[in-house]
Amino acid sequence: MFRIALIAAALVAGSAHAQDLDALKVDTRKNALPVLPKVVGMMQETVAAKGPVEAIPVCKEKAPELLKEQAAKTGWQMRRVSLKTRNPERGTPDVWEARQLADFNIRAANGEKIETLETGEVVTENGKQVYRYIRAIPVGDVCLKCHGPVDKVDASLKSQLANSYPHDAAFGYEKGQIRGALTVKRPL
Ligand code: HEC
Repeated sequence: MFRIALIAAALVAGSAHAQDLDALKVDTRKNALPVLPKVVGMMQETVAAKGPVEAIPVCKEKAPELLKEQAAKTGWQMRRVSLKTRNPERGTPDVWEARQLADFNIRAANGEKIETLETGEVVTENGKQVYRYIRAIPVGDVCLKCHGPVDKVDASLKSQLANSYPHDAAFGYEKGQIRGALTVKRPL
């Protein structure tokens, strides 16, 4: 913690070094990323045990809850965003996030592994410096049940989703694409 405070002080003083940024990135990863495999595991278990309709709350409630818990622990902001949202109220990216997501798509098209796509940057917001971090969330097999091609989605599941999400743009994905990103904002 003390070390991070020092790094933050150095960054605010305008003497950011590459290794300080690396340390911030490593610390941010450590505190934010474990939520991702946890949600995937929970999704796989719930779909297998109860089917996809019963698994809706994993993406709808569990994932945001786990991120909120981590955010409360760290004092940072954390959420999921996407260029094609199911829930635009929660998942619409801001300008910085939209730019990074577009960049991720370009990097993926150029052969970078999507599992490790990330960006960390110190930016100034309302006169204050914050560290922003964003990490791609890949589409795996289990995700296709609810985010795959719309004609392959089970009819009752589709109507359940349509009830809650009138502006759903989160169908049509294939395995190995970028579903969205986990994004973190931490004050320095
Ligand atoms: C059982 C259905 C279901 C499955 C399977 C599923 N999701 Fe979702 N997903 C949803 C729902 C419902 C939402 C809207 C959540 C909300 O209301 O915030 C959502 C939203 C999201 C969002 C937030 C952005 C948005 O579109 O609103 C991301 C990111 C996401 N899902 C990723 C995944 C990934 C990655 C997987 C596979 C590991 C997956 N989902 C599997 C139903 C599902």
